[in-house]
Amino acid sequence: MNAQKLINNLFSLFILCLTLAFSQQVYANDQRDAFIKALMGKMTIAEKIAQLNLVTPTSKTGPFATKNAFLKLKDGSAGNVYSVMGEPDFIHKKATLADSTSLKIPFFNGLDIVHGYKTVFPIPLGLSCSWDSILIEQTARVAAIEGSAVGYNWTFSPMVDITRDPRWGRVMEGAGEDPYLGSVVARAMIKGYQGDDLKSETSLMACVKHFALYGAAEAGRDYNTTDMSRLTMYQYYLPPYKAAIKAGAGSIMSSFNDIDGVPATANKWLLTDLLRDEWGFKGFVVSDYNCIQELVAHGVASDYEEAAGKALIAGLDMDMASESFAGSCQKLLDDGKITIDQIDAACHRILEAKYNLGLFENPYRNFDPGKASTVLLCEKHKQVAKEAACKSMVLLKNENQTLPLSRQSKIALVGPLADVQNQMFSMWSFRGETDSIVTILNGLKKQQNKIVYTEGSFITDEPVFLGKSRGFYNDQEQAEMIAKAIEAANQSDVIVAVLGETSNMSGEAKSKTDISIPNCQRQLLKALKATGKPVVLVLINGRPLTLTDDLQFADAILEAWRPGTMAGDAVADVLFGKYNPSGKLTMTFPRSVGQIPIYYNHKNTGRPYVDGQRGGIMKFNSYYLDELNSPLFPFGYGLSYTSFRYGEIQLSDTLVTGDKGKLTAKITVTNTGNYTGEETVQLYLNDPVASLVRPVKELKKFQKIYLEPGESKELEFELTTEDLKFYNHDLQWQWEPGDFNLFVGTSSSDVKVAQFNWQK
Ligand code: NOJ
Repeated sequence: MNAQKLINNLFSLFILCLTLAFSQQVYANDQRDAFIKALMGKMTIAEKIAQLNLVTPTSKTGPFATKNAFLKLKDGSAGNVYSVMGEPDFIHKKATLADSTSLKIPFFNGLDIVHGYKTVFPIPLGLSCSWDSILIEQTARVAAIEGSAVGYNWTFSPMVDITRDPRWGRVMEGAGEDPYLGSVVARAMIKGYQGDDLKSETSLMACVKHFALYGAAEAGRDYNTTDMSRLTMYQYYLPPYKAAIKAGAGSIMSSFNDIDGVPATANKWLLTDLLRDEWGFKGFVVSDYNCIQELVAHGVASDYEEAAGKALIAGLDMDMASESFAGSCQKLLDDGKITIDQIDAACHRILEAKYNLGLFENPYRNFDPGKASTVLLCEKHKQVAKEAACKSMVLLKNENQTLPLSRQSKIALVGPLADVQNQMFSMWSFRGETDSIVTILNGLKKQQNKIVYTEGSFITDEPVFLGKSRGFYNDQEQAEMIAKAIEAANQSDVIVAVLGETSNMSGEAKSKTDISIPNCQRQLLKALKATGKPVVLVLINGRPLTLTDDLQFADAILEAWRPGTMAGDAVADVLFGKYNPSGKLTMTFPRSVGQIPIYYNHKNTGRPYVDGQRGGIMKFNSYYLDELNSPLFPFGYGLSYTSFRYGEIQLSDTLVTGDKGKLTAKITVTNTGNYTGEETVQLYLNDPVASLVRPVKELKKFQKIYLEPGESKELEFELTTEDLKFYNHDLQWQWEPGDFNLFVGTSSSDVKVAQFNWQK
């Protein structure tokens, strides 16, 4: 057979396989539709409405619990449940309440498994700083293995809301400010939770949240309104939701906020026109906690019944906690305000998702107490947690190579977060095993024994937190604690101060106007610096902080976020240089709250301003009288114990033509320091002249590389017109010919530059 014939045959075989796979899929879908049709044929209207009802026995994550939740599950008036918490047997027993209903339709049994179940990973904002999609997928996989083993089949994660305002407490739950990176992370998490096969016993159905724009809550105040142009929406805020849906997410949660004046939960444009008609989403939409009833408070419905009607008609399928569907759908139907087709459509989508998850074949496939005891917090999972914690940490400052610490050094370990297990978790790790947490003190001690530990400070003196966290603050005791810390410092070679926020300062309903470290902790830091000993500040927190005033009091700063189960081991590995930090910020750190919102991919103004050029010709430009424009730490920033040199960008061409054209950008990166290290090489584009104002820079690609000291690697990035595209004024995704600036560098503000021109 000649080569051409072989190619032809292979091609025919390929087409045959595709056709077979396609017809198998069609057959499977037909089978599923027939099953659901038959099932729905047997269902009463009440039973259909029950499928739309999601109840909760606890008020752990919202304002109230459902009254008699378990009774409702048992008598069949609720078809789904979340936040059943307890031992595996208990969770399982509640799930089997479905067997007492006439059709025995299994429940969605959900929980917020946000960054791990028993084995807890760093908060999602921290994880995103690893820029490591394989690792992030692995963390979601571990979470799914653990969560499914105790009987859950649904997780309210990932949160993919773009966040530009660190006052908003929920920035900790997402992947930061960039739509490209946010999409990479969203895909990884969906893949991790749902696995290769939703029907597998270790898969959890993912629920993408919060659709949409929740991260743009005005003034960073949780649950607040949002207001933005369609362009900003399409260009920056929507891509991660879209990516998650394209990756196969089975469900999506409507957000608390309104969009263009219509709350997301009753927003037909959002839930039907965009989500289903434009994006082709086939899964179901659940409201967030009590969102349907809240339509009344929003002022778009006069009572819960009207609210339920509006939500259903808009395309919402399942009601979380408000029981408005359960209470009103029959009446709305009788009054002709909704149709049976609308109820059927929602019910069908929910049953289809249950079918896709394999619940009809084996409703309790996940539950396995024997397996639970072997997988929960197993060694393998802890290793993933440790790797994730190491890779999420960001080295913000390292003067005089204060880090890594010498193993010979005597260390004064101080700070109210240095030896408190539960402070390594977040408000979303409520099912994590606190006893298993390695504190920073314990982690350091495992590697070195010349450590003097003292608490040094109360955790906070902010009146609003007293009574909740530490419960107490007293000036005199604070002074005594600081005195002890100074004593410890004086006997040591180096100080490690573990400071930051408590776990109840970030997360849902945890917005703040002051995002600096609490004042009493700063007093400690200042006093430590005054001893003249080198100070390493390890930060435990859930949002970008305003660290401007603290910089001078620390020689090195390691942003450790809320690191999870393996906190201490990971921090010790990084401090002693066993792991060379490689994290890069995914959210800008402002100098002061007054700069917020601050993000790297902003537009230029007609009067752009360059820091330091105030006055003269710049007098009437866009700046603050009392603050610089630039952030304290930009997006993409993060140091290493080693140093990297970037060569010049080599373009394959400076003039490219056509839709199908391609451009290659090459750059050589060299490890010029003394440590092996990982670097995230970032590529940004800028379109300087277009039909619309375009951002100064947009992340388009990145690659992680690993270099030995002295080693160089040439990296290659391929660009197509897809990378040039943006939404134009008519919301068409297109590119425009002309000049482009291409940047490659170690952060969004430290880059090499090249230019090219791309013609149609
Ligand atoms: C409210 C939160 O906004 C959402 O993220 C969470 O999944 C639900 N509560 C359920 O706990």
